[in-house]
Amino acid sequence: MKLSLSCSVLLFAALGLAACGGSSSDSKPSPSSSSASSSSINSSSSSVSSASSSAISDGPVASLHTLADFPVGVSVSAGNEQQSLLANTDNGAAQRNVVETHFSQLTAGNIMKMSYLHPTEGGYTFDQADALVNYANEKGLGMHGHALVWHSDYQVPGWMKTYSNDPETFRAMLAEHSETIASHFAGRLESWDVVNEAFNDDGTYRNSDSLFYQRLGETYIDTAFISARAGDPNVDLYYNDFNISNVGPKFNAVLAMVDGLIEREVPIDGVGFQMHVFMGWPSTSDIKSNFQKIVDRGLKVKITELDIPINNPYDGSYNYPNNYQASLTPELAQTQKTRYCEIVTAYMDVVPEDLRGGITVWGINDSSSWLIQQLFNRQHQDWPLLFDDEFNQKPALEGVADGLTGKTCS
Ligand code: XIL
Repeated sequence: MKLSLSCSVLLFAALGLAACGGSSSDSKPSPSSSSASSSSINSSSSSVSSASSSAISDGPVASLHTLADFPVGVSVSAGNEQQSLLANTDNGAAQRNVVETHFSQLTAGNIMKMSYLHPTEGGYTFDQADALVNYANEKGLGMHGHALVWHSDYQVPGWMKTYSNDPETFRAMLAEHSETIASHFAGRLESWDVVNEAFNDDGTYRNSDSLFYQRLGETYIDTAFISARAGDPNVDLYYNDFNISNVGPKFNAVLAMVDGLIEREVPIDGVGFQMHVFMGWPSTSDIKSNFQKIVDRGLKVKITELDIPINNPYDGSYNYPNNYQASLTPELAQTQKTRYCEIVTAYMDVVPEDLRGGITVWGINDSSSWLIQQLFNRQHQDWPLLFDDEFNQKPALEGVADGLTGKTCS
């Protein structure tokens, strides 16, 4: 069956996020009744071999990040968010244990977005982000900044929405925003998402829902990159978006935009593929083809927000509550492991070492995933990540380890 190319905006509309979903038979859910937890592997089990690290992925993974010589990251909650990584609670401690064992880079899931860092005109609030960056630096973890400029309504500070209509006044404000934030964190981050999600799925620039495009047209992107570079001469600067790991008009538009930046010598180091993907979509050949086109331009490729839910609401056979996966069976956990492995393998196969910006998963454990709300509207569970809710390793983690170490995906 063909893919549903009319990417649905229904469920992600609140964030301006759309998702395409395959309706191919390989992603078709099948009914099942097994229990979710039966497939999990206890990471604290004595069978974990601490010395094994780099080569072993048959069974529990001792330390994921040691298998790669590029950043292996995870997004985290921090600051005043619920379930903060830094909270003095059992949950906080359990998160820190996973983070410090398996990851080498953190992305703030929210607290480094525009409205958190620049809530008032001329007023910046760096305390929560600084605490996270300080923690990361203390633990020898890198940090990826997310994101300097993002259209998403709830993340654009209110004052910016009513800021001057004069283009050059607005441009100066945007430049000051990017430069000030980049400069504040200079030397402490490895990379930034400078502009997040500038395009619609049909390849047109976001317009009706992007304040920045409305005020400045596409040149706001140049301004954001140039001023970020002015603030931090060494940090890697990324353009970041979703639904660009499939072949289609959106990726083509990103490519054309990137070519324009290169042509005009606007500083850009790489493209971030969010990769909120599905079990059956996109194909690994699409993923490889798109990675390759970025590599061909000498830019870095970073997987910035990887998650792979079991259910796919855009799949024709998904029909909550009549037909959906209500539990993570061992078989599904295994299929998810293979899918994680295949995506990581695509990355390893196509992206040369010097252009590997890293691979980040969007969240630590399943029920904390943003998809439970944004994709499934809290109607049911899903299991998109690498750890279960008791922070046990899932087979998916082993899939990532297999991909990083060049094992055949199984
Ligand atoms: C999401 C966060 O995970 C949620 O906690 C928040 O409610 C909404 O934003 N693409 C992005 C991320 O670039 O910033 C989004 O993060 C997920 C989609």
